Amino acid sequence: MSDFQYLFSPLKVGKNELPNRIICAPHNTLYPRGSDQEIFYLRRRAEGGAGTIILASTKAAPSIDRPLPPQNIFTDEGIADTKKTVDALHEAGAKVLVELTVMPGWEGNPQPSHDMPYATGTMRTATTEELDELMDYYVQAIANCEKAGADGVDVYAACGFALHVLFDNRLFGERDDKYGDGVAVISDIVTRARALVSPEFIIALDLNVDEEFLGGITLDEGVEAARAICSTGAVDLLIVDAQQVKNQEGYLHYPSSYVPQALSMYACAAVREAVDIPVVGTHHINTCELAEQLIQEGQCDAVSMCRALIADPEMPNKAKRGENEDIRGCIGDCEACFGRFITGFQVGCSVNPDAGFEYLGDPFAPAETKKKVLVVGGGLSGMEAAYTAAMRGHTVTLMEKDSRLGGYVNVQAALPGLGDRGDIVRWYETQLAKAGVEILLNTEATPETLKSGGFDAHVLATGAIFAKNGISEHYLLPIPGHEADNVLTPEDVLAGKEVGEHVVVYDCTNYLVGPGIAEMLADQGKQVDLITYEAQIAKSLEPCYVNRAASMAVLPKVNYIPDTAVLGIEANTLTVRNRYTLDETEIDSVDTVVLATSRPPQDQLYLAVKDDLAEVYEIGDARCPQMASMQMFAATQAGRAIGKQL
Ligand SMILES: Cc1cc2nc3c(=O)[nH]c(=O)nc-3n(C[C@H](O)[C@H](O)[C@H](O)COP(=O)(O)O)c2cc1C
Ligand code: SF4
Repeated sequence: MSDFQYLFSPLKVGKNELPNRIICAPHNTLYPRGSDQEIFYLRRRAEGGAGTIILASTKAAPSIDRPLPPQNIFTDEGIADTKKTVDALHEAGAKVLVELTVMPGWEGNPQPSHDMPYATGTMRTATTEELDELMDYYVQAIANCEKAGADGVDVYAACGFALHVLFDNRLFGERDDKYGDGVAVISDIVTRARALVSPEFIIALDLNVDEEFLGGITLDEGVEAARAICSTGAVDLLIVDAQQVKNQEGYLHYPSSYVPQALSMYACAAVREAVDIPVVGTHHINTCELAEQLIQEGQCDAVSMCRALIADPEMPNKAKRGENEDIRGCIGDCEACFGRFITGFQVGCSVNPDAGFEYLGDPFAPAETKKKVLVVGGGLSGMEAAYTAAMRGHTVTLMEKDSRLGGYVNVQAALPGLGDRGDIVRWYETQLAKAGVEILLNTEATPETLKSGGFDAHVLATGAIFAKNGISEHYLLPIPGHEADNVLTPEDVLAGKEVGEHVVVYDCTNYLVGPGIAEMLADQGKQVDLITYEAQIAKSLEPCYVNRAASMAVLPKVNYIPDTAVLGIEANTLTVRNRYTLDETEIDSVDTVVLATSRPPQDQLYLAVKDDLAEVYEIGDARCPQMASMQMFAATQAGRAIGKQL
């Protein structure tokens, strides 16, 4: 047992009580409200020890925006669907709040917002009548949540949603009617709603109290506004955000590993001083130890956690039992949770292949036939396949040619801002040992070892490595001059090959490794030119805002040359071509070139044995380099398929 004095103690909220101080933050899975998928997903988090679950963005009023969020609470159907999820979570012992949102452009006041494609221009201030209607919807929506059996609501007035727009009218358009400031709007909603619901029903409010960076309210003003709203006596719980307005500051709303932990706590602590109700800290609080510390220091009374519980729904229970080495930590890449969601796919996770797929049943259901399994390749996919197979009762050997497990994750984890990624390798090392997997390091598999190995099933996860010849999707032939000794790949640099003083890093993968190598070398005092074919670094991560966080870390340290292709390398001179002007220029006095242009799959072993062995699975980057969560899902599916055709 671990020594948590505060985190697992109940919290009195108004006339109600939360079982502990861990709140599962609202997050849209894109599964319909009340569906089996949503219920399986959220139940797992409740059973894992989160005392309170906030159901994701739920429309309080009709919205003309894109269909998100899909669920509503202003129709009978919406109430009935919500009740299904609420009832299931109550059975699991959790308290349930429903987050109420309306996009800035609601039906009564159609306006552009960040969630509408092609929306440009400034929002029109809602008329008094439009606002009256919206507020009526909110009041009724709060009452409807009680009808759905929920323990409370989370009225969301942050992050650019409608109530936030109204709350910070300096930022989004001043008004001169009776609703002159957002305090009046929100105070009126909660006061009227309070009269409609039972005294035990929790009215929580999520406020963004600092937008000075964007020209909005200052922290002092935000704290004062929070105090004024709380003085109505209608609010029981405050969730405190700071900054993070989407789109402008989305990289803080979904804080990646580049962003400091607990980034909103300065604001939360300030609000807590000013109000006499419990306050909840949020954003990048990803361990129970940190949560305990924040509560102990008096910065908050409870924490709201999202991605830590996506990555490991059992985290609270494991921490409580002192099983820290078993906690699968969130690595803060944002790719499979928010990145998938925002591009229209159901929630997933780069380190937890079960996240979002709980409804498929126990991934470790015992295999019908126990087999002797060989997994080749100890990267993320190989480790996951070996783990699932072993947990299902197979006898598993994992062969890795390197001296340690991790594969491509080790490359990433060695780079600035990405160190958290090493956690998942450590987690698998521990779990593979516990699951009894035999691990053979420094062991290269050959077609002969496979054919004579006597294994019943083979999983080939031999990965991908950076091309040495500079081939990319933008230039399909090798770059002339790539054979020179001063032309390296990221793996070469990390392996310690000599790098000169003036380095050019050429990235065409639109990911973080090229920029990360550039940043690392700049940190070592090198003069670094970073060239990308695209207009920005890490473009593939734009949907989840990680490109922005990476840009802030990398670009101040390097000479950045966007929109450019490298055409040739001759001794110490590079010929480059601007993508738009097509002008060709030269970069002189280059000591070292690092090519991060593409990662061809290493599938030779698979091709050599696929027709000769009985049960062969090819997974991971060897099959197709792509986002980690897809690899993980394929890997776990391979582990599930062995000994049972699914
Ligand atoms: C997939 C996904 C969906 C989200 N959907 C919502 C949502 O519906 N409403 C909301 O207020 N926040 C939403 N968020 C933001 C989270 O509630 C949380 O504020 C954010 O992830 C930062 O907290 P964390 O560092 O604990 O993950 C979402 C986050 C993710 C990853
Ligand atoms: S996808 Fe990445 S950021 Fe999101 S929960 Fe999983 S590990 Fe965390």
